[in-house]
Amino acid sequence: MFPTEKEFNTLEDFDYRGKTVLLRVDINCPLDKQTLKIVNDSRIRRVVPTVRELMGKNAKLVILAHQSRKGKWDFIGLRQHSEFLSRHINAPVKYVDDVIGKDAVEAIRSLKPGEVLLLGNVRGLDSETAKGDMEAHANGEIVNALAPLIDYYVCDAFGASHRSQCSLVGFQAKVPSASGRLMAKEMFALNAIFSEPRRPSVFILGGAKFGDVSDMIERVLGNGTADTVILVGLVGNAYLLARGVDIGQASSKILSEELTPENLQAAKDVMEKYGQKVLIPVDVAVERDGRRVSVNIGDMPTKEPALDIGDASAEKFAKVIRSSKTCFMSGPAGMIEKEDFAVGTRILMEAMVDSGGQSVIGGGHTGGAAERFDLADRFSYVSTGGGALETFLLGEPLPVIEALKYSKKKFGA
Ligand code: 3PG
Repeated sequence: MFPTEKEFNTLEDFDYRGKTVLLRVDINCPLDKQTLKIVNDSRIRRVVPTVRELMGKNAKLVILAHQSRKGKWDFIGLRQHSEFLSRHINAPVKYVDDVIGKDAVEAIRSLKPGEVLLLGNVRGLDSETAKGDMEAHANGEIVNALAPLIDYYVCDAFGASHRSQCSLVGFQAKVPSASGRLMAKEMFALNAIFSEPRRPSVFILGGAKFGDVSDMIERVLGNGTADTVILVGLVGNAYLLARGVDIGQASSKILSEELTPENLQAAKDVMEKYGQKVLIPVDVAVERDGRRVSVNIGDMPTKEPALDIGDASAEKFAKVIRSSKTCFMSGPAGMIEKEDFAVGTRILMEAMVDSGGQSVIGGGHTGGAAERFDLADRFSYVSTGGGALETFLLGEPLPVIEALKYSKKKFGA
């Protein structure tokens, strides 16, 4: 199920001295909605070892990354990201708000060994997100423009490794490629923990996206990776709805586009099949008169949206988690941006680290929340992946890893 490191090249496999290296990272960060400032830079910090190592090897380092996607409020350029990176590596990071145009090409050509350049948000180009496999993207405009300027391609974008997008899978067929340190570390850490989980193993699935959750439950309970699955956050609300609880219009509205009859049926089916192995909230927390109030599901619907699991659910789930030996949390239990509704997530995370077992978190802004609660260092592993982590756990191939394997076969090490 899990690829081994040497199926693809890693940083030590090439000599980068004086060479131009294109490094694709995932530094897609949560922003403040009002100021558009980065509120958590953990993904930037996590690629620093790779950046430093390549600088230390005197590569001319060109970094490519995305922030959000077109049409979303947090789709912005990467100047701020370059400033954060510069502070973390304690060296200048040049920034050019261009990816394949004249400015980018000139900036790449004038790089000196040991220097770092960050290009603009690659998702500004429609060709980046155009549907296509490795072969199609290998002939895309981004690869056509940049491949002739580089000697090596390194991918450290684990968080985006489930995406088959041009800058993630297109270069591997054109230039010798390797994974960065973070990518390799994620693959190994997750493999070590999930290939032989200690029992009981509990999966907490939360966050906002619930379209794939029934597949995920089927997979982890079906193959025995998990003994119990706990559903929280918007995922929990959706499963309450599938169970026949009237969660009210305000809560349903937030679920919007993923609230399809197929998804609800899949949720029902998986709950029926696995019974008590799938735990859903017994209460939710809403904001009433400016305060957090827990409401039992028997007293729903509420006119206010459910913003977190309620206190009784948090207590019930924490008990299960405390007696686990492996616990994985993907996505938060509530609206963690609001202190009162970060309560559920904090209680579950505290139970995870108190369990003394293997504990892994990832997804959405979960890593950032753990840092805010001062718990991040107490987990066995904090993954930078959200969708990528889920794809990995579902045992589905990650397009970036497949492309890296292809590159090794084509170019060797
Ligand atoms: C993420 O944050 O999960 C990655 O950066 C991928 O982003 P995407 O879901 O917009 O493709």
